[in-house]
Amino acid sequence: MPFPSFLRPALLALALAAPWAAASAQPATPAVAPVLPAGFSVQNVAVLAGTCANCHGPQGHSTGGIPTLRGQDASHLLQRMQAFKANRAADATIMNRLMQGYDESQIQALAAWFSQEVQP
Ligand code: HEC
Repeated sequence: MPFPSFLRPALLALALAAPWAAASAQPATPAVAPVLPAGFSVQNVAVLAGTCANCHGPQGHSTGGIPTLRGQDASHLLQRMQAFKANRAADATIMNRLMQGYDESQIQALAAWFSQEVQP
């Protein structure tokens, strides 16, 4: 994170109160259907992914200092989320705690989902 540590609580508070949260209400479907783990439909991953928009921006396109997820390599997204969950990411401020609530198949589904661009 490029933010000094004393700014992190303020950044987090700002992120949690994000005014663009409403934009996440209707998650768009990626243009190319992501290859999802067994048992996942496009609809249920869209709901999972909708919660990320509060901080990562509408459809995962960031509008601030938090990284854009959309269009990043699936393996990068997967590794980052697994590292957060395992408390191995040195830069983690919130994602390490947040990822405790997601299981491996949900993390795989989210990585596949955000790696695909959405329809314009
Ligand atoms: C409360 C705000 C918040 C929410 C909600 C949130 N994130 Fe994050 N995310 C962050 C921050 C801040 C970082 C930078 C690392 C850190 O400080 O923990 C980050 C980093 C990441 C990264 C690493 C990106 C990179 O290129 O290194 C991934 C992947 C990620 N988040 C995925 C998700 C997914 C998927 C969701 C929804 C399930 C989500 N995040 C929800 C705030 C959030």
